[in-house]
Amino acid sequence: MDFFLPVSTPDNIVPLDAILPEEPLLMMGAGPVPVPARVAAANSIVINHLGDTMAQIIEQVKSMSSYVFQTETARILGVAGPGSAAMEMAVANLVEPGDKVVCVTNGFFSSRLAEMATRCGGDVTLLPVAEGCSADVAAVERCLDQTRPKVLTIVQGETSNTVCNRNLQQICAAARARDCLIIVDAVCTLSTMPLYMDDWGIDAVITGGQKGLSSIPGVSLVAFSTRAWQTLEARKSPMHHWCLDAQLANKFWYQQSYHYTAPVSGVLAIHEALKLICSETLPVRFRRHLRSSMALQAGIEAMGLTLFIESSHRLNSVVGVNVPSGIDSRTLLSAMSARYRVEISGSFGADIVRIGQMGEQSRAHNIFRTLHALGASLATLGASVDVPAGVSALEKKLEKFDQQHATGSIACTTTHTASDEPIIASA
Ligand SMILES: Cc1ncc(COP(=O)(O)O)c(C=O)c1O
Repeated sequence: MDFFLPVSTPDNIVPLDAILPEEPLLMMGAGPVPVPARVAAANSIVINHLGDTMAQIIEQVKSMSSYVFQTETARILGVAGPGSAAMEMAVANLVEPGDKVVCVTNGFFSSRLAEMATRCGGDVTLLPVAEGCSADVAAVERCLDQTRPKVLTIVQGETSNTVCNRNLQQICAAARARDCLIIVDAVCTLSTMPLYMDDWGIDAVITGGQKGLSSIPGVSLVAFSTRAWQTLEARKSPMHHWCLDAQLANKFWYQQSYHYTAPVSGVLAIHEALKLICSETLPVRFRRHLRSSMALQAGIEAMGLTLFIESSHRLNSVVGVNVPSGIDSRTLLSAMSARYRVEISGSFGADIVRIGQMGEQSRAHNIFRTLHALGASLATLGASVDVPAGVSALEKKLEKFDQQHATGSIACTTTHTASDEPIIASA
């Protein structure tokens, strides 16, 4: 039988092998990040999205997530979508038209939360934070007292400009004391640095797969506190998003029934990523991230470069580096990719490049290679940098960190030194 096809096959498709680089780039940007072999292998499997096998996997994803989010009470839902879908699930379920929302905005992603709340009909008050700074607790308290919002949104790490809201715990306490729900974007930070959902009284924690968790993009997680769950169950207005309706998603995640066809391969991948985190344990993982980021930062500075954010406000999970004058950042990124097969990120405005320190990125061999690629590429482009000094400082910082932490186990808490360099307290 002949079928008439009004549209013919395209004749300009080149094979994937011809498009992808022969030698993969080392992904050291702001995400996605390299994935461990077990995660990649799991991502290649397709199973039935319903039934006993999937149910067992979902149970395990939830119980391992409880550990990673540090919550015993939250309802944890997976989302087929990017980190932004998880952000939208949290915001759209908790914000109804007319609800007062305070959005602490440090940059691009925290502003995205505000945009989402506005689109949900929220009566949004922006609390912009000074450029390059962590949110100030007193300023948040004043804004909460003036506004009396139902919801506060805030980012733990603002990946776009590499600022960390270091006072997140105190800000959560302030919001909690005012009976305000707290939504925290931990897309780039979860499992890279401390965040204790239950202890800090957070109502919704959002994360993506492709950053701290070192899984693939496209499957994200949201954890809702009991208080948040009761709030969304008591909604007066209908949820406009069908896919992102938490109560519908609950059918799949807690009742073994159908919502939509879950992204099974991505769920298997995140299962493996969570399993690796549980095996490593959070204290060891936090320490690995801190060690790696501190060493990288020391190497960058010793090379003669400067970091974008002052140390007391700096995010360790993604490090912003000022581009030396006379150097075009795009040319720099291209040089690093072409010659050294290392990819880092550009920026959202400021003249910086960003190096990720999330999951698999935070390994000594990766930071040595990245620092060398950065320095050597800058030198080729005519910048004045001392590459050996940078590499040597990186090495020394790693050793110093190991000496400092050689004895005693590492507790899951951070404190700050006088210079505000975070340290992990030995238990
Ligand atoms: C802090 C933060 N929030 C949200 C997002 C959005 O995640 P996605 O790009 O997966 O939608 C990102 C992505 O870079 C992020 O870094």
